Amino acid sequence: MAVAPGTTSKEGWSSRSAFILAAIGAAVGLGNIWRFPTLAGENGGGAFVLFYIGCVFLLGLPLVLSEIFIGRAGQTDAVGSIRKVARESRSSEKWSIFGGIGALAAFLIVSFYSVVAGWVLYYVGVMGADLLQAIVAGDPFRGALMGESQEAIQGRMGDLFANPMLLLGMHLVFMGATLFIVARGVSGGIEKAATILMPAFFVLLIGITIYGAVVGDIGEAAAFLFTPDWSLLTPQAMNEALGQALFSLSLGVAGLITYGSYIRENSGLGSTALTIAVADTSVALLSGLMIFPIVLAVGLDPAAGPTLVFQSLPFAFQTMPGGALIGFLFFVLILVAAVTSSISLLEVPTAWGIGELGWKRTTSSLIFGGGAFLIGIACLLGYNVWADVRPLSFWSIFAETDILDTIDGFTGKVMLPVGALLTALFIGWKADKNLLKVTTGLSSGSFAIFRFLIAWLCPLAVAIILVTGLFPGVLG
Ligand code: PHE
Repeated sequence: MAVAPGTTSKEGWSSRSAFILAAIGAAVGLGNIWRFPTLAGENGGGAFVLFYIGCVFLLGLPLVLSEIFIGRAGQTDAVGSIRKVARESRSSEKWSIFGGIGALAAFLIVSFYSVVAGWVLYYVGVMGADLLQAIVAGDPFRGALMGESQEAIQGRMGDLFANPMLLLGMHLVFMGATLFIVARGVSGGIEKAATILMPAFFVLLIGITIYGAVVGDIGEAAAFLFTPDWSLLTPQAMNEALGQALFSLSLGVAGLITYGSYIRENSGLGSTALTIAVADTSVALLSGLMIFPIVLAVGLDPAAGPTLVFQSLPFAFQTMPGGALIGFLFFVLILVAAVTSSISLLEVPTAWGIGELGWKRTTSSLIFGGGAFLIGIACLLGYNVWADVRPLSFWSIFAETDILDTIDGFTGKVMLPVGALLTALFIGWKADKNLLKVTTGLSSGSFAIFRFLIAWLCPLAVAIILVTGLFPGVLG
């Protein structure tokens, strides 16, 4: 059934808690378990972590509330929702452009997100096969990958990257699963996936954190993560913390506008936004407390960078009791988090196709999921046959980056901040205050704080991320 452009979407969450669970599922992803510990490690821990928490609550939270508000008030895809709020606020409908930028960003992000999730899937396979062998050998609680040297374990990632067919297979399976869920719709697909996967995710996260605390060095990990050495908080680190806060909360890609448009009742958007921000940040911190005790106990480098999770941890699991089992569960955990995020990414352009172009859900999800799959192929070929390709080589900040990192960098450094900046300006200066107050349901005091943050602090801080991201020279 084709829907006329701008028509209110007929789909919706079955309850408020279903929305919260799906939104937490969208926020909690590779950003929390892979990127946050990586960045915290690279930037020296404590000071970065505390600054990050400040960013989440002073900048991220008001933006989360703004996006949910637009969706709730608009009741259709991101572009249509912004247009509707703009009309009701007697401002220009041109503001809806940031819904379009968001949908395009989400489409680009899901293309490489699926490739990275494919690496996770590969490790689920490797660790799963190893666990199976351990069980067959009657020793299910042994360490992981027992026969392999540290070099061999760490070399697995290079072998994977050199193998385009393997990368392609994993990408295909992951994107296929994402597409399948999104094609089934809001309550039958996205909500169902979140209600099954998110509880499983939390059980695994808490279980593995307790395991890490028992067998690893939780004291040293907590000291690393929470003892600030402010001299390590460089402008570059602050910039990364701000950018990571946007990415982790899924801001700037209109994801929460889209999910917010499926909310039917009018109740406490403020507390909903707070729940999402608290949950997302808790998971990031718990991931740090899960990963660093294990990494530090084995004497590995917490600043290993993006390979921390894929190269350092599998080796750490070799030396740990029960490592084969925990290692397998660890990669399952990341995979689960990645699925609930990738469906939210694909949902943004899909909803746009339905709302603005009048496509059916299956058609729209197939077109955007298929398109993202193709772009993802270019990303994974960038690790082998197209290793020399530098798509934006003319642009100094991307001169050295391969295909995947270029799309990641362009969306993260340009599109997300632009989306977030326009959201903040629109809500802070253009949206009708009465509509905003009534729809968000904030008390007068909270509303005043919210208005200050969204009108002044957010635009300023996000503009700084944008400028320093594009012109790293200004940081000296
Ligand atoms: N927040 C997700 C993560 O942390 C990534 C994401 C970004 C998902 C934007 C949806 C929209 O992994």
